[in-house]
Amino acid sequence: MSKKFSLFILGGTGDLAKKKLLPSLSRLYSKGLLVGLEKVYSLARSKREDWEKVACELDRGLGKLCNFLPFDVKDTSSYESLGKILQTLEGQELIFFLSISPYLYEEAVRGLGKLLRNYANPRKIVIEKPFGFDTVSARRLNNLLYRYFIEEEIYRIDHFLGKETVQNIFSLRFSNSIFEGIWNRSFVDHVQILALEKVGVEGRGEFYDKVGAIRDMLQNHMLQMLAFTAMEPPAQMSEQFIRDEKVKVLRNTRIEKLIRGRYEGYLQDAGVESSSRETFVCAKVMVDNFRWHGVPFYLVTGKKLSKKLTQVVIAFKEVPASLTRLLDCIPKQNRIVFQTAPESKLQVVFELRPPTGRFVACPLETVMEYRFPSEFEEAYEVLLLEIVEGERSLFIRDDEIETMWEVVEPVLDLKDEPFVYPQGVKLPPQARDFIALEGRQWYL
Ligand SMILES: NC(=O)c1ccc[n+]([C@@H]2O[C@H](COP(=O)([O-])OP(=O)(O)OC[C@H]3O[C@@H](n4cnc5c(N)ncnc54)[C@H](OP(=O)(O)O)[C@@H]3O)[C@@H](O)[C@H]2O)c1
Repeated sequence: MSKKFSLFILGGTGDLAKKKLLPSLSRLYSKGLLVGLEKVYSLARSKREDWEKVACELDRGLGKLCNFLPFDVKDTSSYESLGKILQTLEGQELIFFLSISPYLYEEAVRGLGKLLRNYANPRKIVIEKPFGFDTVSARRLNNLLYRYFIEEEIYRIDHFLGKETVQNIFSLRFSNSIFEGIWNRSFVDHVQILALEKVGVEGRGEFYDKVGAIRDMLQNHMLQMLAFTAMEPPAQMSEQFIRDEKVKVLRNTRIEKLIRGRYEGYLQDAGVESSSRETFVCAKVMVDNFRWHGVPFYLVTGKKLSKKLTQVVIAFKEVPASLTRLLDCIPKQNRIVFQTAPESKLQVVFELRPPTGRFVACPLETVMEYRFPSEFEEAYEVLLLEIVEGERSLFIRDDEIETMWEVVEPVLDLKDEPFVYPQGVKLPPQARDFIALEGRQWYL
C-alpha cells in the first residue's frame, strides 16, 4: 500500500505558490502521479478570499484536497492551530514547503521544529532559494535545521535542477562514452554559462536590492550548471556519490575576475534612491583541477536584455592554423550547446564542406539539433515528484550550499558602483570587451 501524505505550503498565497507550486501539483495530481496525497494546506496571514482566488483556478481534482489555514510564522498561536490539524493526520508523511520570504526561514524552522517534536509522523522540509545570504548565514540555517531535522528530511531547492536540459548535461556526459575523452582541457577551449533575462526586477525591487544578481543567480543556478558540466563521474549513480562529485568540483572553483552592471532605470524600478547592487554580472571562473586547469568558465547573467536565453556552451579548441592557411577562412569552434530557454534542446555545432563540388573549400557551420521531449511543463513538477518519492539527487546538500556561498563570498557586497547599461541590449559593451580581451567571442 502506498504511503499517505499531506503537504503544507507556508506562503501558500504568494507568487511562487500561485504561479508554480499549486499548478504543478494540480497537473501531477490529474495525471495520477500523487498517489497517497490526502490534503494540501496553504498557510498564510492573507484572508481566505485571497487564497480562494488562487485555489479556484485549480482544476477540481486537486481543488477538492486543498484547504487554507490562517497562519503567521511569527505567532505561537498559529502553531497551535496547525497542531490541531496534525493530530488528525496520524501516520501520514508531512511535507512542509517554505515558500515564504527567506527572512522568515529561521522562525519557520524553529516553530515547525518545536511543534513536530510532539508528533511521530515522518516529515520533510523543503526550502526555497535563497538559502542564506552568505556563508555564515547559510551555515547558521543548516545548524538550525539540524536541531529539528536530519539531512535526509531536508530538501534545498534550486529549480534549475528540475529542468530537462540541466539533467541532460549529466545524462549526456555519463550515459555515453564518446564524450568523456574530449571533456577536458586538452579539447575544450572554454565554457560559457549564460542566463540572460528580458525582464527587470518585476515588482520585487525591495527584495532584489538586498540580493542582486550575484546572490539571485550566480551563487545558485549558475554554479549548479557549472557543477553539472565540470564534475567528475560519480562512483555510482546514487544521490550521495552524485552530490559528492558536485561538492568536490565546487571546492576547486574560484572567481578570477568579475564585472558588474545595472540597467538604466533600475533605481526607479527598485524604488531606491541609491544602490551598489548589480543586475548584470559577467565572471571568469576557473576550476583548479587536472581536468579543467587553464580552461575559463564564463558565467553571465543579467536583466533587461534583448532576449531570454539560458544555455551552457562547451566551446572546443580551434583546428591548427596550418591546416587552413591556404583557405581564405578560419573554421569556427566546434560547440556543444545545452539550451534551457527559450527552447529545451541540445545542439552540436561543427564545420563541413559546402556542396560546391570542390574538395578543398572553406567549411560551413552545420548544426545538429535535438529537442528534449518532456512529460512535464514545469521544473517544479519534477522536483515535487522527487520530494514525494524521497529522491534527493536534484537537491542541494548542506556542504554543497555552503561551498557555493564560499565561491561567491569574495564578490558579495562589492562597494564599487556598477556600470550602467541601456535596456534591451544583447549584452552590455563591457561584457563584449571582457571576452574579446581574451581573444574569444560570445555565442548567443
Ligand atoms: N516567485 C518566484 O517565482 C520564486 C522563484 C524562486 C524562488 N522563490 C522563493 O520563494 C519564496 C516565496 O517567494 P514568492 O515570490 O512567492 O513571495 P511572495 O509573493 O511575497 O509570497 C510570500 C508568501 O508568504 C506569506 N507570508 C508573508 N509573511 C508571512 C508570515 N509572517 N507568516 C506566514 N506567511 C507569510 C505571504 O502571504 P501573507 O502576506 O498574506 O501572509 C505570501 O503567501 C521566496 O523565498 C523566494 O525567494 C520565488
